[in-house]
Amino acid sequence: MKNFWNNKKILITGINGFIGGNLCKKLISYGASVTGLIRNKNQKTLLFAEKLDKKVNLIQGNLENKNTLKRILLEQNIEICFHLAAQVEVGIAEKDPFVTWETNVRGTYSLMEAIREQRKKIKAIVIASSDKAYGDYPKNKMPYKEDYELKAKFPYDVSKACADMIARSYASELYNLPVVITRFANIYGPGQANFSALIPDCLKSIIKKQKFMPRGNGNSVRDFIYVDDVVELYLLIAKNLFVYPNKIKGEVFNAGTLKPLKVKDIIKKIFLNENKLNQFKKLEKLFKNKKTSGELNYQYMDYKKVYKFFKWRPKTDFNSGISKTIAWYRKNISKIL
Ligand SMILES: NC(=O)c1ccc[n+]([C@@H]2O[C@H](COP(=O)([O-])OP(=O)(O)OC[C@H]3O[C@@H](n4cnc5c(N)ncnc54)[C@H](O)[C@@H]3O)[C@@H](O)[C@H]2O)c1
Repeated sequence: MKNFWNNKKILITGINGFIGGNLCKKLISYGASVTGLIRNKNQKTLLFAEKLDKKVNLIQGNLENKNTLKRILLEQNIEICFHLAAQVEVGIAEKDPFVTWETNVRGTYSLMEAIREQRKKIKAIVIASSDKAYGDYPKNKMPYKEDYELKAKFPYDVSKACADMIARSYASELYNLPVVITRFANIYGPGQANFSALIPDCLKSIIKKQKFMPRGNGNSVRDFIYVDDVVELYLLIAKNLFVYPNKIKGEVFNAGTLKPLKVKDIIKKIFLNENKLNQFKKLEKLFKNKKTSGELNYQYMDYKKVYKFFKWRPKTDFNSGISKTIAWYRKNISKIL
């Protein structure tokens, strides 16, 4: 892996986010030359918390600006692009879908058009779609399969489904670009600064000794992969796409742990890890009175296809992943909150 990445010219959209920061950290350690599109100077992120910003080339700009993207691709001679930038907050998407459509949909076609119009060097484009793009399927249809129809209904989910389809169209015989789509399950780990997401929200309330308010009734079933496993998979996919474009161009890859958990059990594990079982018992009563809307009941993934193609499987079980995550937040929360 290390030899391959040394000096490769990489663009990460969303580098100042959770997954972008973790991916950037790994790429730097492998000697890659990383350029990142950064929308604003928010420094409460992993990129700045771990001083990764000093080791990469940051370009300020908006994903919707095709000319900025074209300039980056040309001037930096980008060879591989990871497209991670997105408006990811489900609550914001529900209250104000416009910004979500702009970033997630317009941002994705702006990037794809910039690449199409200036396709001299690009050898691999990896697009972060999401399990949310599938929409609602009953329990007996789980785990999601890559060939399921995308039936997203709620704004964030629809925006990811649109971006997913738009990106895929560029891999078609019309444009023949080396694009791969990833639809991963929920991701957790160090540096996630979206405190409306379940795990950061729960950890914040424990560390800051604040009351934790569960959003739903705790019965939704979710699959959580540790971010290091996801970064490893991103690198495998991009490397294979670069080396064997005709073998995987246009493919869609799901990834999950195949060990789904109820949301209330995830919260319980976190409270248990912190020896706070009594606090969890109080929470259990709150769950009973809650209704969940705008959320799907069952979502989980397997890793059959990614194992077949790349021999990848998740290495980190939830208990050890959450312990590492808690340790990171305890040390660094003030840098991202
Ligand atoms: N975190 C998860 O559980 C998960 C699971 C599956 C898929 N994904 C996908 O992975 C990607 C990264 O997710 P994340 O958790 O790191 O999110 P994040 O919010 O931490 O990072 C997204 C980044 O995109 C940037 N961004 C937003 N709008 C932009 C714009 N208009 N122009 C430029 N940059 C902009 C944000 O500033 C942020 O730094 C997203 O596409 C998300 O849909 C995430």
